[in-house]
Amino acid sequence: MAKIRCVGVLTSGGDAPGMNAAIRSVTRSAISNGFKVKAIYRGFEGLMNGEVKSFTTEDVSNIIQTGGTILRTARSEAFMTAAGRKRAYDTLIKEGIDALIVIGGNGSLTGAMTLAEEYDFPCIGLPGTIDNDLYGTDTTIGYDTTLNTIMSCVDKIRDTAQSHERIFFIEVMGRDAGFLAQNSAIAAGAEAAIIPEDSTGADQLGQFMERGIRKSKKSCMVIVSESPKCGAMYYAERVKKEYPQYDVRVSILGHLQRGGSPSAHDRVFASRVGVGAIDALVKGQRNVMVGVRNNEIVYVPFVEAVAKHKPMDPQLIQVLDELSI
Ligand code: F6P
Repeated sequence: MAKIRCVGVLTSGGDAPGMNAAIRSVTRSAISNGFKVKAIYRGFEGLMNGEVKSFTTEDVSNIIQTGGTILRTARSEAFMTAAGRKRAYDTLIKEGIDALIVIGGNGSLTGAMTLAEEYDFPCIGLPGTIDNDLYGTDTTIGYDTTLNTIMSCVDKIRDTAQSHERIFFIEVMGRDAGFLAQNSAIAAGAEAAIIPEDSTGADQLGQFMERGIRKSKKSCMVIVSESPKCGAMYYAERVKKEYPQYDVRVSILGHLQRGGSPSAHDRVFASRVGVGAIDALVKGQRNVMVGVRNNEIVYVPFVEAVAKHKPMDPQLIQVLDELSI
């Protein structure tokens, strides 16, 4: 196995609160272990274009508390092509980078996996996404902060929902995963969550309406996972048509969910997996995502992290059902 002297680090895909804490952790842990660090700007796009800067410990000072990513990020279409990946590989060689650490979600780690396979290049992934949809790790960088952001938004919406005695459909991010919707519904005391994991084909809205909004509850809040066809608008329109006695409103939280200072949990998690990534390289691990399961650092092969479905714990569904009566 070739000796590693210089580690590259980049963030890719949707930014997530805690990415800066991860960049700081990777940089400082690498330096502590005697490696050089090269930061790559704008994700794989920047890697293809040679946007690289040597990092010292000072370059990552005062960033642990900040949202977004100081390295910027991108969703690169060009990197999905073989020609794009060749350009990226050429930059790695030119810059003397011996291993690459990619902080990002499903698409970004798929990119890292493909590069690693095509060029036999050591890559380590860190789970950086608010969606919490990566298999093999209990959580992801940014998920906890976003959950808290949604919870405080829903708390505020509750004030107006109660005052006007309305049904609110609140749409949250998550792409194809309902973790943000289900857990924010529990945390904010919402009446229901409509999530993609319910694959029974059951009409989740119908079930919720049939169960009945408790007589004493004049207002209610339903958290809806984003979906191109069946988002909050879709359900609100249906209720307006099928249950005209209710006063219905929609709130789509959008990108405010991705911003803000990371929670303590995300900062600690990002710091742990950042150190875990350098540890993984030292121990000869290659092409794995570093995660945490049952409070222990784990190495999850890329192919499992990105391709396996992360299940929703059915107890979370039971919790919301039983507590929202
Ligand atoms: O993957 C993170 C995420 O925020 C998803 O929840 C959401 O579907 C998507 O990114 C939005 O991406 P963009 O910012 O490119 O519109």
